[in-house]
Amino acid sequence: MEKMIVAIDGPAGAGKSSVTRLLADRLGFQFLDTGAMYRSVTLVAIEQEIDLLDETALQKIATEIEIVFDGEEVLINGNNSTTAIREPNVTRSVACVAKAPSVRSYLVDLQRRIASQGDFVCEGRDQGTVAFPDSFCKIFLTASPKARAQRRVAQLSLSGQPVELEVVIRDQKLRDQQDSTRKVGRLMKAKDAIEVPTDDLSLVQVVAALEGIVRQRIENKRESSTVNGQ
Ligand code: DC
Repeated sequence: MEKMIVAIDGPAGAGKSSVTRLLADRLGFQFLDTGAMYRSVTLVAIEQEIDLLDETALQKIATEIEIVFDGEEVLINGNNSTTAIREPNVTRSVACVAKAPSVRSYLVDLQRRIASQGDFVCEGRDQGTVAFPDSFCKIFLTASPKARAQRRVAQLSLSGQPVELEVVIRDQKLRDQQDSTRKVGRLMKAKDAIEVPTDDLSLVQVVAALEGIVRQRIENKRESSTVNGQ
């Protein structure tokens, strides 16, 4: 049976990460956090003191490191790097890596290979547009800049990294601009994606809404394959 992919895209702080994990759990799908891949390449580049504008060096790292997802954990070359890839120095530098076309092309290919192994909910910026344009269900999660920043502050404070709201808003604006203006894989709603604004919804409500959308799509798929005799 054909593998199913739910593609979830949207800006930083729209809630993709938590929503993706919970939704995957509800559907019995696996989840793929593609931002963690760009973060992994960035972390290794920083550790190796690579010039982040040196695309050839970044591509070499992307193709040579082994990134393994083990539930919530991210292992780079066997080392647990789950926390390190979310440190502020990586967050500040990752856009530079994510705009390198050859890094993107390698990682998109890796995402497709991973997702071919089962049913997946994949989150990122280009999942519905570039990585999985034929996905049967595409979601574009949005929230106002203030709501997104407030969520980020709460998230960082929970992980013991308190930060001012103003600082987060400033960094977020910069990241949004970098994510939506780069030449390849830029943050963009796919034409056939369903936009879900999350400002006035709790996490549980967002997950319930998305689960409803996905289950309806699965039902439609079943009906159309029955009609077509597949
Ligand atoms: O979702 P995140 O904050 O972990 O993403 C980290 C960075 O990677 C962010 O700058 C956007 C970029 N990214 C991307 O360009 N394409 C993806 N599919 C996922 C993330």
